[in-house]
Amino acid sequence: MCGIVGYVGDKTAVPLLVEGLKKLEYRGYDSAGVAVLDEGSLTVKKSVGKLAALESKLGDEMPQTTVGIGHTRWATHGRPSDRNSHPHTDCTGKIAVVHNGIIENYLELREWLSGQEHAFSSETDTEVLPHLVEEFYTGNLEEAVHRVLGMVKGSYAMVVLHQDEPDKLVAARKDSPLVVGLGDGEYFIASDIPALLNHTRKTYILNDGEVAVLTRQGVKITDSKGNVIPKQVFQVNWSAEAAEKGGYDHFMLKEIHEQPRALRETISSRLAADNTHVILREVGMTAEEINKIRNIRIVACGTASYAGMVGKNVIEKLARIPVEVDIASEFRYCDPLLTPETLVVIISQSGETADTLAALREAKKNGCRVLAVTNVVGSSVSREADDVIYTWAGPEIAVASTKAYITQLAAMYLLALYLGQVRGTVGQELAQELIAELKNIPGKVQRILDGAPLIRDLSQTFTDVEDAFFIGRGLDYAVSMEGSLKLKEISYIHAEAYAAGELKHGTLALIVDKVPVIALATQESLFEKTLSNIQEVRARDAKVIGMVFEGNNQMKKSADYVLYIPRTHQFLAPLLSVVPLQLLAYYVSLARGCDVDKPRNLAKSVTVE
Ligand code: F6R
Repeated sequence: MCGIVGYVGDKTAVPLLVEGLKKLEYRGYDSAGVAVLDEGSLTVKKSVGKLAALESKLGDEMPQTTVGIGHTRWATHGRPSDRNSHPHTDCTGKIAVVHNGIIENYLELREWLSGQEHAFSSETDTEVLPHLVEEFYTGNLEEAVHRVLGMVKGSYAMVVLHQDEPDKLVAARKDSPLVVGLGDGEYFIASDIPALLNHTRKTYILNDGEVAVLTRQGVKITDSKGNVIPKQVFQVNWSAEAAEKGGYDHFMLKEIHEQPRALRETISSRLAADNTHVILREVGMTAEEINKIRNIRIVACGTASYAGMVGKNVIEKLARIPVEVDIASEFRYCDPLLTPETLVVIISQSGETADTLAALREAKKNGCRVLAVTNVVGSSVSREADDVIYTWAGPEIAVASTKAYITQLAAMYLLALYLGQVRGTVGQELAQELIAELKNIPGKVQRILDGAPLIRDLSQTFTDVEDAFFIGRGLDYAVSMEGSLKLKEISYIHAEAYAAGELKHGTLALIVDKVPVIALATQESLFEKTLSNIQEVRARDAKVIGMVFEGNNQMKKSADYVLYIPRTHQFLAPLLSVVPLQLLAYYVSLARGCDVDKPRNLAKSVTVE
């Protein structure tokens, strides 16, 4: 994820900026840069790769300036490169901007700015910002930034530096964190608290819509209309380690809580404002090519393959194309039946999983078009695929995947709707209903997260459990697979997922007194059937934890405990039902004293066969 650091004071800025960026390295990045005012003129140094590469570019003779901004970039729009690194500048080279988040309407703005004779030098969404500031600057940077904020849509934490107002930084935030550090005659700005801790523990936490102006004389905070607002000092008492986790005890918990934002960033720019259609510019297939697709093979490993199972279900429903889901390690050796009319969809958070990459190459060798869903711009998968849908989850640090999975699900819905709309297999009414509801999903995920203490209480009953089962039908079965994997990988409880109707064909023999059975029943059309399967396990004295939409009064008669999730369209239920399962796995792991973020025997990126 990108990191921001800014400084105004009386010390040499460059070492402070680099030191601050180093404190944000744990978040992952692929390039870095700084902008400072050197003898009155703006100097920008940036480099792809690690901070050491930037440091060697900066050399020993660093500018002695005392004002500057720095950035570590995790690529979203445009691959990692010197050109795409931040800070970005305007046409005059006087304005520099660092930015985290995504400017959703950047294409529109870029087009408009090009019409005003602005020339762009990167592929990023961010670059519209310095050009917009240039466009509106009439001698007052703060005013220009306010005007820019009125034009941009999306999420941002940004800091702007202008050569003509040399002792000033102007910063703004919406849906992406930004913190002001209050020193003695010196002020800092950063996207995350760890970057400040060596210098101060007194901070202002900026809220959405607020703008901060930092000078050596102090910090002024205004609201979106420019009115000065009083701000309370937040004293940071966290240790440096806790600060890296944003105050959460583990990266996994932090990442679970980042899901509303990750979802918003992944979907919002891809859904038309009037809900009529999905916009997937990154899919380069023509309508003719899409109409020619005879079958789809989704290929992935682990969690990513379970996202693929949801994808199969929704693509078949909405685009009416037959889909198979293959485990990548099997696909490469099974002599798959592929034709040029087969679309191969590769899902990989890291984009580097050895088996998945080999499967991609196998598909290309067979002449198939390959569409990748990945979280890492510039990864091997993204470079070798024909089309890439990026999930904008930001780097995932915990081994157990959470926010990457949920954004992979989002990508599956976008793809299914897109293929359906091009092929004319999805009715306009249903498409509109699903698109409108997709926009509500981040808020509903947030509501589930707000109820986390209830799941923490439930987890206490799992401390001595040895086996657990997850059951569900249709989409609930696909999510059960992911719930089961989450529980086993971080709590070491033996867990299995079954299609609810399949239990009695063997597995029911394992259902004995007090064995937990987590039964997902969000698919209303299959509800009665799932309820019968629940009765089967109850009759064997299993401990049933049911999951249904709010307002369902039937489950409580059949289950020992009921997890309620906000009501949504049943097609979209996986985006919500997985969240309590992630929280359950997390709290059970914690209660059993396991190493949540680094479970035994597992690695984050599996680059060996
Ligand atoms: C489990 C988990 C793994 C990964 C799998 C594929 O929580 O994270 O099952 O999903 O190793 O990794 P990527 O998506 O990087 O190809």
